[in-house]
Amino acid sequence: MALQGAAAKHRSIRGPKATRAADPAKPMAIARPLLAWYRRHRRDLPWRMNRDPYRVWVSEIMLQQTQVERVKDFFVRFIDRFPAVESLAAASERQVLRLWEGLGYYRRARQLHAAAKRVVADHAGSFPDTAAALRELPGIGRYTAGAIASIAFGRREPILEANSRRVFARLVGHDRPVGGAADEPLWQVAAAFVPVRDPGLFNQAIMDLGAIICTPTQPQCDRCPLAGLCVARATGRIAEIPAPTPRRAATLVRETAVVIRQGDRVLVERRPAGAWWEGLWDFPLAAADDKVARGDRRLASISYTVTHHRITRRVVVRRVATAPPAGRTKRFVAIAELDRLAMTAPGRRIARLLDANG
Ligand code: ADE
Repeated sequence: MALQGAAAKHRSIRGPKATRAADPAKPMAIARPLLAWYRRHRRDLPWRMNRDPYRVWVSEIMLQQTQVERVKDFFVRFIDRFPAVESLAAASERQVLRLWEGLGYYRRARQLHAAAKRVVADHAGSFPDTAAALRELPGIGRYTAGAIASIAFGRREPILEANSRRVFARLVGHDRPVGGAADEPLWQVAAAFVPVRDPGLFNQAIMDLGAIICTPTQPQCDRCPLAGLCVARATGRIAEIPAPTPRRAATLVRETAVVIRQGDRVLVERRPAGAWWEGLWDFPLAAADDKVARGDRRLASISYTVTHHRITRRVVVRRVATAPPAGRTKRFVAIAELDRLAMTAPGRRIARLLDANG
């Protein structure tokens, strides 16, 4: 359909030579040169040491919203601490969140933990080996199920993430908007091209090709093993494909955090359900009508981004004579103890400033 449309369009532009265009009826025409390239140029990544489904799963969850370079160290530390699904299932949520701190999108960590418990309780510790069954687990969507099923279990399942989306779009000359529901035609392209043999290597190779060669700007087509099959290249539209997704403007937000301090102890609060960073610890935020008290000392101003919000947080320190009330969601802890809590990203930055300022 979309794919045949793209190939047909190319045929009409290029005449008989167009038989060289990426043809879904001949998936090996792509897989063969791609896998030969991958054997020589693949990235050496810590989760590629073997095909253990647990490791593949942890890496794919981390890679959902975080760049490869950033994931590497986190992955190694995580596997070191939780080498198998049983140890992860037996951990407390606090331990899992603490190890996840810095990767962001904590829902992933909670779902990972919940899925580990399910694998142990319902599947005797063995991961389901089909994409459909994997999708029943928390945190596993279409992409992640395809990645685990193909890489760990050799199933012929497609994947589509940022890099492969760009490669496939260029390969078949798909010049319409992409992302979300608009990705459906590209899922079909991916499904048509993924080979029966080595589908996991093929999927990883496509991602590496997108990361190394078929980059968003200035792709190195002269080094690309698929250049001769690429519709976007043949029609001079590499720079236009994929079509850019319209960006939502950032909303600017201002807030004030108050570090309530007595001696070397400070008050921290747990972020409530439904809030950003649900369940993580942070310093209390002043209500909009909360006047800064006399004697409050300005500590810093920090900026951070959450989805499409750009937030500027003013931080003040308020010294108090008596300890404020604590409870399950509020704790009055020594600054040195903050290190043991899973904190929000801006909360951690404030904690470090307190450390530094003694
Ligand atoms: N991005 C998402 N999954 C990946 C993988 N397995 N290898 C490289 N990049 C990825």
